[in-house]
Amino acid sequence: MVKVTERVSWVGVKDWDLRLFHGHELSTFNGSTYNSYLIKDEKTVLVDTVWPPHADQYLERLESEVGINNIDMIIINHMEPDHGGTLGKIMELRPDLPIYCSVKGQESIKAYFHKDWNFIPMKTGDTLNIGKNTITFVEMRMIHWPDSMLLYLSEDKIVISSDAFGQHFCTQSLFNDEVDECVLYQEAIKYYANILTPYSKVINRKLEELEKLNLNIEVIAPAHGVIWRKNPMQIIEAYKKWSGNYSEDYAVIIYDTMYDSTRKIALSLEQGLNNKGKKVKLFNASITDLSNLITEMYKADTLIIGSSTVNNGILASIEVLLHELGSHKLCNKDFMAFGSYGWSGESPKHIHQKLIDAKLNPLRDPVSVNYNPSAEALAEIVKIGEQLAK
Ligand code: FEO
Repeated sequence: MVKVTERVSWVGVKDWDLRLFHGHELSTFNGSTYNSYLIKDEKTVLVDTVWPPHADQYLERLESEVGINNIDMIIINHMEPDHGGTLGKIMELRPDLPIYCSVKGQESIKAYFHKDWNFIPMKTGDTLNIGKNTITFVEMRMIHWPDSMLLYLSEDKIVISSDAFGQHFCTQSLFNDEVDECVLYQEAIKYYANILTPYSKVINRKLEELEKLNLNIEVIAPAHGVIWRKNPMQIIEAYKKWSGNYSEDYAVIIYDTMYDSTRKIALSLEQGLNNKGKKVKLFNASITDLSNLITEMYKADTLIIGSSTVNNGILASIEVLLHELGSHKLCNKDFMAFGSYGWSGESPKHIHQKLIDAKLNPLRDPVSVNYNPSAEALAEIVKIGEQLAK
């Protein structure tokens, strides 16, 4: 147990080894944590559980440090298995425990465990007095699941926020003032870019709703990563920016290449952009982590995407990238497509059309080069890069 506020302790699990999450969808190079919290007020309240592979460690510690029989109620903020998955084992030991959750949470818990426990559904504005603290419940629908909820404790002035404001960041301390803040920021924005971008409009509205509640917040305790106790509002301010058509002033060139022709085009575009002072990052998609590429596409204001033509189409790494770009709704970006080809030349056209379909803004027609670009062709492409910068 790690004390967070006078009556709230962290009782979660650190997962130092996690490198891929959501199946293999998301890279987590800094591991993660599953943050379960224990509120010891006049009532003893457990908030969320942990991912089932860590259930034994979690339950042993709960038993030795709290005593599972001493828990009066459990709140499930979100029934994705990394937070609700160990609920079943607790209920085997304590089938009488009341479970507070959202209406959608009750549906999710039933769909996962197929049990009819003592559910007490809560909605936004509902409160629960547990002694010194009154808990206010706020539904956080689609941030990032339909069932997600946030709690505010009136006396300890802590927000327990579920996935919102989290990071996949397992490190020596659980508190933001005791960790590397640059890594923390990078993990927080990677988490936002990869998990929350499809719901940015909902998040923006929810932040306005939370502001109107005038909560006196001293600590924000998410379900993953470190807890925001130094200047906790910084992460709310960051979410306000990130959920509002966010972009930074740089272009990202992402390409895949078979025999270096497409790579030569990429390098010439980079040179042209640099010539006119536009900052550029350049990545070969076939050797770069996809979650990091999604983060870069989310941050950049201009996406320049290229592929060789293969079998009348696009190389697989770029095909996947374009799928992710569409599903993450990264639409407030300018773009240009490029590529090389041996004989048919479909790839740049396909990339261009897919980016149009994803509602990005084309800066110009695609750039396409037959086979190996000549020195003259590359000089022309440098000029195109200069025009893009303008
Ligand atoms: Fe961390 Fe949506 O589960």
